[in-house]
Amino acid sequence: MHTGMWENRITQENVIRLKERGFYIIPPDTGRLASGGYGAGRFPDTGTILGHIKKILGKDGDMAGINIVVTAGGTQEPIDPVRVIGNRSSGKMGYAIAEAARDRGASVTLITAPTSLPVPVGVEVVNVETADQMKEAVEKAVSRSSALIMAAAVADFRAASISAQKIKKESGNLVLELVPTPDILSGINGNFIKVGFAAESQDLVANACRKVERKKLDFIVANDITEKDSGFGADTNRVIIIGQDGMPEELPLMSKRAVADRILDRVVRLLAAKGNKK
Ligand code: PMT
Repeated sequence: MHTGMWENRITQENVIRLKERGFYIIPPDTGRLASGGYGAGRFPDTGTILGHIKKILGKDGDMAGINIVVTAGGTQEPIDPVRVIGNRSSGKMGYAIAEAARDRGASVTLITAPTSLPVPVGVEVVNVETADQMKEAVEKAVSRSSALIMAAAVADFRAASISAQKIKKESGNLVLELVPTPDILSGINGNFIKVGFAAESQDLVANACRKVERKKLDFIVANDITEKDSGFGADTNRVIIIGQDGMPEELPLMSKRAVADRILDRVVRLLAAKGNKK
C-alpha cells in the first residue's frame, strides 16, 4: 500500500482493533514504493516475515519470560577518522544465539558491533562500535536479564590517543601506542548466568579453563580458531563447552545455529537449577 493509506486514521484504528483481538500485525517495510515515492508501505521481505513467524511460534518455548543479553561482532577501536583496529568476527555466532533464543520465547537484547548481517526481527538491537560502548550497553541491559552470553570479539587494546585528522602516510613509519580496553566480562557480576567465549589458537582447553576462573563464568564456549570451517566468519563451528567443574563437553562440527541451541540448553538448565527467571 501507499504510506498515506497505511497511516490513514481508519487503517490505524482497524490495526489497533485487530491487535486487541489478538492478531499479530507485521508492519509494512519502509522504502521505495510503486508510486515512485518513499515511505512505509512495502511488502516485507521473506526473511522478515519468517522472523516474525518464528517469534510467534516460539512464544511458549522453554525460554518464555526470560530476558537475555547477547553480544556479537568485532568491536572497532578508532585510530583516526578513517581507520580502526578491528578483528575478523562476522557476528554470525552471536546473531545465531540471539535468533535461537528468540525462537525459544526469550526477550533478547542483542548488543552488536558493526556487521554486515541483516537485523534480526523481534530482537532489541543495540548498535555499538568500541569496547567502551559495548561495556556501557552490557551494563545497562544486564541489570534486567537472567543471562549474558558474550560471543563478541572485543578488542583488547585501543589507541592511547585518537588522531583528530587522517594520519598521512608521508610521515613514514607509524608507531601506535596501545592501551588495554576494559574486560567487560571480568568486570560484570550479578544474579545472572554469565557465559563467555574463548577464541584460542593454542592450548584450547587449558586457556579456556583459566578464563572460566578468571572471568567468573558459569561456562565458556571454546573455539579453536585454527580449525577449518570453524570460528571467525564460518557458518559452522566446532566448540568445546567447559563449565565450572572443568569437564569439557566436545561438540562435533555443526551449524552456528545448532551450537547456539546447545549453549541455550545449558543456560536453561542452569536457570532452572537456580530457580531464576527475569
Ligand atoms: O562472529 P563470528 O565470525 O561468527 O565468529 C565467532 C567468534 C569466533 C568471534 C566467537 O565464537 C568467539 O569466540 N568470540 C569470542 C572472541 C574473543 O574475543 O575471545 P577472547 O578469548 O579474546 O575473550 C574471552 C571472552 O571475554 C569473550 O567472551 C569476550 O567477549 C570477552 N571479552 C574479551 C575482551 C574484553 N576486553 N572484554 C570481554 O568481555
